[in-house]
Amino acid sequence: MKKREINIGILGLGTVGQGVLKVLQENREFIEQKIYPKKIILKKIADKDKSKVLPDKGLYKIFTDSAEQVINDPEIDIIVETIGGFEPARSLIAQALKSGKHVVTANKEVIAQAGYEILSLAQKNKVHFLFESSVASGIPIIGVLSHSLTSYKPREIIGILNGTTNYILTRMSEDGSDYEEALKEAQEKGYAEADPSKDIDGFDTFNKIFILSAIAFRAKINLDNIYYEGIRNISKLDIEYARELGYTIKLLALAKNKGEELDIRVHPALIPQRHTLANVGGAYNGILVRGDGFGDLIFSGPGAGALPAGGMIVSDIIEIIRNFDSYNNNYNYFEVKKVKDFKETHSSYYLRIRVKDRPGVLAEIAGSFAQKEVSFLSVIQKGEAGEVVDIVFLTHLAKEGNVQEALKKVACLDCVVKICNAIRVVDI
Ligand code: HSE
Repeated sequence: MKKREINIGILGLGTVGQGVLKVLQENREFIEQKIYPKKIILKKIADKDKSKVLPDKGLYKIFTDSAEQVINDPEIDIIVETIGGFEPARSLIAQALKSGKHVVTANKEVIAQAGYEILSLAQKNKVHFLFESSVASGIPIIGVLSHSLTSYKPREIIGILNGTTNYILTRMSEDGSDYEEALKEAQEKGYAEADPSKDIDGFDTFNKIFILSAIAFRAKINLDNIYYEGIRNISKLDIEYARELGYTIKLLALAKNKGEELDIRVHPALIPQRHTLANVGGAYNGILVRGDGFGDLIFSGPGAGALPAGGMIVSDIIEIIRNFDSYNNNYNYFEVKKVKDFKETHSSYYLRIRVKDRPGVLAEIAGSFAQKEVSFLSVIQKGEAGEVVDIVFLTHLAKEGNVQEALKKVACLDCVVKICNAIRVVDI
C-alpha cells in the first residue's frame, strides 16, 4: 500500500524556516490539491535556540533543539534544511540522505561547495535532493533550467542574484542614500545574510552563479576558479556619472558557455539603463537566460525573504511527494569544464581617475593605457577646474590582465592622485 501521510522535519527556524511553516499553514488546501491523496504531516521542527518563539502554540509539541532527533526519527520522510551556512548543514544533509530521507534545502553554500558529492549521495540512496530556493528565492529558475530548457543549450546567463546588494544600489541610485544607511535598511527588512559581508562582497552571488552554471551548462566546475568582487567600492558619485552616461550600476553574475571553457564571474557592472535588468530594483532579482532557439528569456522577482524562499521550498516538497513512489534522477549528467582564467577575459571599463589639473595629463594616461592595448571610447572631465579633478574614461573592450597592469602603472604616474574606481561595462 502506498504511503499517504508524508512526514516532514524542519531543521532551522530562522527567516526561511519560519517562512516554510507559514506557507504550509496558510496554503494547506491549495498544496494538498496537488498531492492528493497524500498529505503533508509536520512531524518535528528543530532549532538550536531552545527559547525560540514559535508562531503557533501547537508547534511547541513538535519542537526540539536537537537536529539529530529529527534526522534519526525513522518516520520522517523529508528533511527541510534551513539552517544556512556550510557546517553543520552539510553533514546533517549527508546524514539525512544516507538514512534514506529526501532533502530540500535553500543552502547555496552547501550546494556550491559540496553539491556534486551530495547529488551523487542522493542518487546512491535513491532519494531526492532539491534546492530551488537556493538561487533567487522567489524565481523558479532552477526548475526552468533543469526541467524546461532541456531541448536547447543555454549559451549565457546574466543575473542580478543578490537582493541585499540590489536593494543597496537601488536606494543609493534612487534616493541618494549612502551605503551604510541602505545596508542597515536591507538588514532590517531581513534580506541580508546574518553576516552581510557574504552579500556585500559578492560571495552569495558567486555561490548562486556557480549553481546556475552547473545546471544550465551541465558542467562540473571548479568553484575556486570563479572570480568574484562585491560592491563596497561603489560610491554615489560613480552611480551619478554612470547615469549621465546612460548606465545603471548593478552587481552582476555572468556565465558564458564558450565551448571548451566557461567564462563565469561576479562583479559590479555598468549596464545600459534601457535594459530590462537595469530596471530590476529593490530586493528583486533578475535573470537573463540567452540561448539558441529561445533567444533571451528574462525573469524577475523577489530574491530574498521568508515567503518567497519558504514558498519555493514547499514547491520542492510537493515535487518530491508527486514523485514519491517512483524515483528518478534529475541530475544525471555533468561534463568537466574549465573556467576561463579571469585575466584572459575581456571587458570594457568605466574608469574614474583623480588627477592634477595641468596640461598633458590626458596624453600621459592615454599613453600608459595604450602600451597595454587599452584604448578609450570617451573621456569626460568632471567637476570644476581646480588643483585636482576627476576624469571619467570609457574604454573599448580590453583584456582584463592588461587593464589591471595598466591601472597599476597609471596609479604611479606623478600626475595621478588616485584611481577612484574601475568598473566593468557590460553591454547586454
Ligand atoms: N541574502 C540573500 C540576498 C538572500 O540578499 O539575496 C538569500 O539568498
